Amino acid sequence: MAAIESHADMTSRRDVLHLATGSMAALGSALALWPFVASLAPDASVVASGQPVEIDLSQIPVGQVVKVFWRGRLVFVRHRSDREISDARSVKLEDLIDPQADEARTKEGNAQWLVTFGNCTHLGCVPLGYQGPFNGWFCPCHGSVFDTSGRVRKGPAPTNLPIPPYAFLSPGQIRIG
Ligand code: FES
Repeated sequence: MAAIESHADMTSRRDVLHLATGSMAALGSALALWPFVASLAPDASVVASGQPVEIDLSQIPVGQVVKVFWRGRLVFVRHRSDREISDARSVKLEDLIDPQADEARTKEGNAQWLVTFGNCTHLGCVPLGYQGPFNGWFCPCHGSVFDTSGRVRKGPAPTNLPIPPYAFLSPGQIRIG
């Protein structure tokens, strides 16, 4: 089973949705939220070929992180709340371990969407979403903390969660790769 994410405001855990498709494949619509986990992962040939992966953002509510794989690498797609955005943007850059403005980590006009690689920059564990003091991610392996922009706020991770190449195809759809 895939890893689990949970929303800080929820009293119960929420499972992650998996919504990846190959670039030419249609995305299924019958996707249920909690308590179900839906998986529409690309087939092995898509993964092996390194084709771009398209994500239908309309199926990701605020407060959810979707995990997809692109070229064999885990990617988080997080639908951020206004509070998460303002938290990320109110931080002084000089207070950051790896200073980077939230505006530089998101697409202009689409601040609600954060797309990052999903492995801790320390030794590669998968951080847990909506956990830790900044409500971003917490890495259970050695305690690294990331904020709602995926920036490292406490090591040993040395750098922020990297941003993969991606683009908006429409307001409700992105292509990774
Ligand atoms: S792998 Fe995340 S803190 Fe070590």
